[in-house]
Amino acid sequence: MPETQETKGNLIITGFMGTGKSVIGRAVAERLARRFVDMDTEIEARAGKRIRRIFSEDGEAAFRDMEARLCEELSSRDGYVIATGGGTLVAPRNRAVMREEDMLICLHAEPGDILRRVSGGEERPLLQVRDPRAEIERLLTLRQDAYAALPWHVDTSRLPVERVVERVLALAEARTVRTDYPGGAYHVQVGTGLLHHIGGALRAAAIPAGTRVALVSNDVVAPLYAAEVEQSLSAAYLHPFRCVVPDGERHKTLRTVSSLYEQFLAGGLDRTGLVLSLGGGVTGDIAGFAAASFLRGIYFAQVPTTLLAMVDASVGGKTGVDLRQGKNLVGAFKQPHAVVIDPQVLSTLADPELRSGMAEVIKHGIIGAPSLFGELEVLGRASQAPGNQPRLLSPEQLTRALRVKIDIVEEDPYEHGRRAALNLGHTVGHAIERVSGYTLRHGEAVSIGTVAAARIALRLGRAEHQLARRIESVLAAWGLPIRCEAPGHGPFRAEDVWQAMAHDKKRQADSLRWVLPLGIGRVIINVGVPKRLVLSVLREMGATGSVRSS
Ligand SMILES: NC(=O)c1ccc[n+]([C@@H]2O[C@H](COP(=O)([O-])OP(=O)(O)OC[C@H]3O[C@@H](n4cnc5c(N)ncnc54)[C@H](O)[C@@H]3O)[C@@H](O)[C@H]2O)c1
Ligand SMILES: [Zn+2]
Repeated sequence: MPETQETKGNLIITGFMGTGKSVIGRAVAERLARRFVDMDTEIEARAGKRIRRIFSEDGEAAFRDMEARLCEELSSRDGYVIATGGGTLVAPRNRAVMREEDMLICLHAEPGDILRRVSGGEERPLLQVRDPRAEIERLLTLRQDAYAALPWHVDTSRLPVERVVERVLALAEARTVRTDYPGGAYHVQVGTGLLHHIGGALRAAAIPAGTRVALVSNDVVAPLYAAEVEQSLSAAYLHPFRCVVPDGERHKTLRTVSSLYEQFLAGGLDRTGLVLSLGGGVTGDIAGFAAASFLRGIYFAQVPTTLLAMVDASVGGKTGVDLRQGKNLVGAFKQPHAVVIDPQVLSTLADPELRSGMAEVIKHGIIGAPSLFGELEVLGRASQAPGNQPRLLSPEQLTRALRVKIDIVEEDPYEHGRRAALNLGHTVGHAIERVSGYTLRHGEAVSIGTVAAARIALRLGRAEHQLARRIESVLAAWGLPIRCEAPGHGPFRAEDVWQAMAHDKKRQADSLRWVLPLGIGRVIINVGVPKRLVLSVLREMGATGSVRSS
């Protein structure tokens, strides 16, 4: 059973008159099966007269008092969708009763649209003037700062009602995982359609209106998603400029970081600025390191767009680049200020990349999410039926995969101990990546490495037969390799893999430490395994080499 999310707080929809608060609020409440309160309607019901008459008979101040009392009353309840009046949240006393668990969404519209929408309906007391359009513009300017102070914004001008409802729902249904690290915390938000709300996520993470944002992406991802992200940043009163890096691990270099510094300076980024990475693990590692070092460190946030980056690279704070001598040899710990994950972007990711990311998801299942592992077994089997494509994971499943990593890095932020558990499958995996001449993707190599770890655990008498079988079949069901070979390469030599492991760790191979699965949801770290046993397991998995070579 997926963990159910209890509804804490209210979903509050605010904005200027004519932005559609009531219509959108009612529709959203219906879709979420939550109760709906339209504050203006509620006040009219309690006063027994229309707002226009409250204004003319009792005065605006009396109306504002009733409004403030209602705000206070509603803030002691949970689970409501509330449409406020147009001026409600302009008043600091009303904003002050909002709680952290309330979600506040501000709707916007162009003055022309507002005028059109309000002219048909009931009379608006604030627009009883000669030139209503000029009055709308005057009031909008007057309230601009108050609206800009709110985190989440949705522009309704060019969107049909259903699309606005979708965007609000994307926010309401997003999952938030808080991640603590020494000296701070950040939120990871996961939800379909969140790409439209990245600006809001940053604002909610206390990035102030007016901040300059260096949007770092590569030449594959930028054309797909950068414009949408920029729009969302601007709508949240942030000032983005685009910085592009070339695609591919071979560009994860100091040279690319240096080209980013140039682009940051050209874009006017200063100490108050933020670097936002939009891309896979490569982009995140480069952009994060640039953010950690530019002006001795400025704000950093991530929008991971590959499955691997979503469940692995985007949290934990490790950033860095490769040197000619090896991968990730230069880097820094740089915690993000926010991470926003929109699984929808996976629809453009190539299948092999998706599969490669699944290896890490499955790995997380083995390390600490048995229920997720079980669901992956079922989904994997279903996708093997003829005509069935591998299924995408739900935001909720992604969140559980991610939570395994978050829990571990919270416990061991600087990789002194427990974090080693995340290296399940990586001892053999890294070696196989190298021996394959990097023709195997990281995840594919990790898949083979995970099978090796399970078989070693079995041979050491630490795990049951059944465990290795389950692990192998779920990996295979998701299209991942489980034998010690690569297409076009044939079987690897067991001895070569061993040598590569020794090289990888830059130390004597006999001091290699292993992460082994003992059960689904249970791994043990720091196990010494005799070379003889490792070679024998690799051969059992199809590697070549005579038994005597050990
Ligand atoms: N910092 C960490 O903790 C950490 C953890 C694991 C891995 N990593 C690093 O991550 C890197 C691998 O990351 P990766 O697998 O995401 O590779 P990647 O960033 O190279 O992305 C893979 C490919 O997919 C493309 N792409 C990305 N998103 C796309 C989308 N939505 N639609 C279409 N194409 C898209 C990319 O342009 C690239 O060509 C490695 O450098 C590794 O060292 C870092
Ligand atoms: Zn990995």
